[in-house]
Amino acid sequence: MTDTVAVDVIDRIAWVRFNRPDKRNCMNPTLNRQMLEVIEELEFRPDVGVLVLSGEGSAWSAGMDLKEYFRENEGKGLGATRAAQRQAYAWWERLRWYQKPTIAMVNGWCFGGGYGPLFACDLAFAAEEAQFGLSEINWGILPGGGASKVATELMPFRKAMYHAMMGENLSGKEAAEAGLVNEAVPLAQLRDRVTAVCEVLLAKNPWALKATKDALRRVREMTYDNAEDYLIRAQEAANSFDGEGRKEGTRQFLDEKSYKPGLGAYDISKQKA
Ligand code: ACO
Repeated sequence: MTDTVAVDVIDRIAWVRFNRPDKRNCMNPTLNRQMLEVIEELEFRPDVGVLVLSGEGSAWSAGMDLKEYFRENEGKGLGATRAAQRQAYAWWERLRWYQKPTIAMVNGWCFGGGYGPLFACDLAFAAEEAQFGLSEINWGILPGGGASKVATELMPFRKAMYHAMMGENLSGKEAAEAGLVNEAVPLAQLRDRVTAVCEVLLAKNPWALKATKDALRRVREMTYDNAEDYLIRAQEAANSFDGEGRKEGTRQFLDEKSYKPGLGAYDISKQKA
């Protein structure tokens, strides 16, 4: 727990929250620094199997702090601006390649720079009441800090262009339809839905999950042949950490006949450490 980031670890789920509710959880340099410290501390803890990122109060995150991240740093010169950018991008990058599965639980406002951590999380669930916006155009800049990239990665091109140029918000439901998040549910059900997803992830082979999420991100920019080659190598590398996992999965299906991979996961509790 730091003053700008709140954390609870409950039943192997790390509930990490933006914690500047009075400022609608906009990201200032202190938050960016503290968030990196918090997620790094959680990353290899044995009592953490999945990380959920949400916000305190009415916002998920109202994007970058226009005062402390932009205006005050611009006043100090280019070096201060670059340092602030590096701090923000550092924790988003850490999250994109995080060891554990990550879920954005978007409980409210999500603007601009918030699309960085939104995309960094492997999965995203929103409250129907949440509001998503590339509001940059409304105050006179382009969607930077990766936000334009996120929009075109996650949304069809015309939708992304409209979203970026018009400065209109999408509800949680519209964000799900557009591809920004996996699903939207009423705010009152959001935590239960995310908990249920976490429980499914916690029952799966953690090495296979890490290899899978990296593979999905990496192959996006590869040719088919390069992807095929990368995936062979990635699986063989994963085998060196987790030689027993897939053998146990195969054994429970073929020999024990206790589950079907097409219908669910094998019992990881029977796996040798
Ligand atoms: N940067 C700095 N301060 C902010 C930000 C922000 N991004 N968002 C909210 N705040 C501050 C407000 O200035 C206000 O501060 P004050 O209490 O000292 O006056 C406080 O947070 C509460 O904000 P309100 O506007 O009063 O809250 P309300 O619930 O009415 O509205 C909303 C919420 C819609 C999120 C509004 O605050 C807003 O439009 N914020 C800016 C959103 C935005 O465009 N962010 C930048 C995206 S672009 C980028 O990130 C690169």
